[in-house]
Amino acid sequence: MSCSEISQLPSTDIKEEEKLDEGYQKTYQKFDEIYPTLPKRDDWWGDGLGAGQFVQYQGFWIPSGALRGVMLIHDHFKPRPTDIILSTSPKCGTTWLRALIFAVINRNSYHFDDNHPLLSSNPQDLVAFLEGHIQQGGSTSFLETLPSPRFLSTHLPFSFFPNSMTSSAASACRFVYICRDPKDAFVSMWHFMNKLRARQEMPPLPIEHAFDLFCTGVSLNGPFWDHHLGFWKASLESPNMVLFLKYEHVKRETSASVRKIGEFLDLPFSAEEENEGIVEKIVHLCSFENLSNLDVNKNVNEEKQRGHLIKNPEFFRKGQVGDWMNHLTHEMAKVLDQITKENFQGTGLNFD
Ligand code: A3P
Repeated sequence: MSCSEISQLPSTDIKEEEKLDEGYQKTYQKFDEIYPTLPKRDDWWGDGLGAGQFVQYQGFWIPSGALRGVMLIHDHFKPRPTDIILSTSPKCGTTWLRALIFAVINRNSYHFDDNHPLLSSNPQDLVAFLEGHIQQGGSTSFLETLPSPRFLSTHLPFSFFPNSMTSSAASACRFVYICRDPKDAFVSMWHFMNKLRARQEMPPLPIEHAFDLFCTGVSLNGPFWDHHLGFWKASLESPNMVLFLKYEHVKRETSASVRKIGEFLDLPFSAEEENEGIVEKIVHLCSFENLSNLDVNKNVNEEKQRGHLIKNPEFFRKGQVGDWMNHLTHEMAKVLDQITKENFQGTGLNFD
């Protein structure tokens, strides 16, 4: 069955009987007990946007609005061997990879220049956001209704997932992870957070303040380096379970990366598809230039995007490698590089 069935995600269905289920009650109770005890920070976006402050849970700073979903995933999510999970630290290329993977797995269902869903929908509307849907629905029931193979997206660190999802022996899910040079990821996050702050009529966060927060690990789903390392180590241990990509590499060699994604998902491109230029069509369709200039991504359709934490145009800014040079001082860049070097030392991961 193709993932095309999820091209129009239905609204989350809350099942009352599930909410009353004893297992769920236990998780809700655990949440109620733990939540007040957790360290909280409101530096980045205050307490607004329905996402709340950041809370520090099991070593990571996550929006308080996502915490119950995180706990529900851990306790109740039922993975399937066919699940494809795009995992990212925010601002590392989620939108791009959502589009690329969607286009790869659905390449036989649509015409690239005619009825393709990516021409009329933002990638966030084509791929279920794991913790978002669970948080919203209060249970995992919506995700259970999706046909296999499910394509889901998440910002959660690797260590947050239950064994049933991450144990290679069970070969429960396949993860595609994309990392990014922290200098560019930080600059992207700073711009993005200021857009969200403006919506709440908060003053912009000075870059120096944001920089100190980021460097000390206080960032969306941070510490940034720990997020990367969790998936990096898993990809070394279980290369069939985790495909680890770098934004810079995907940018430089997009066609090769698309082929790699196809192979990893057991959907390699045939000689016939190569002759027809399908890989290049996917690359073009999902390119920053193409996606960011589509009406659906350039404009905010209030009706369609009501309730979305992030509006479509906010997913696109420059889509370049090295834009940090326009925002960071030489000293700041040196500090970030040094932190990266220390964190990644001996792991084989680097951004050289
Ligand atoms: P910049 O702010 O550096 O431009 P995410 O999707 O994880 O939130 O990441 C957002 C970053 O990816 C932004 O980076 C955004 O511009 C960039 N981006 C969005 N779509 C892209 C695409 N199709 N190709 C390359 N980069 C893209």
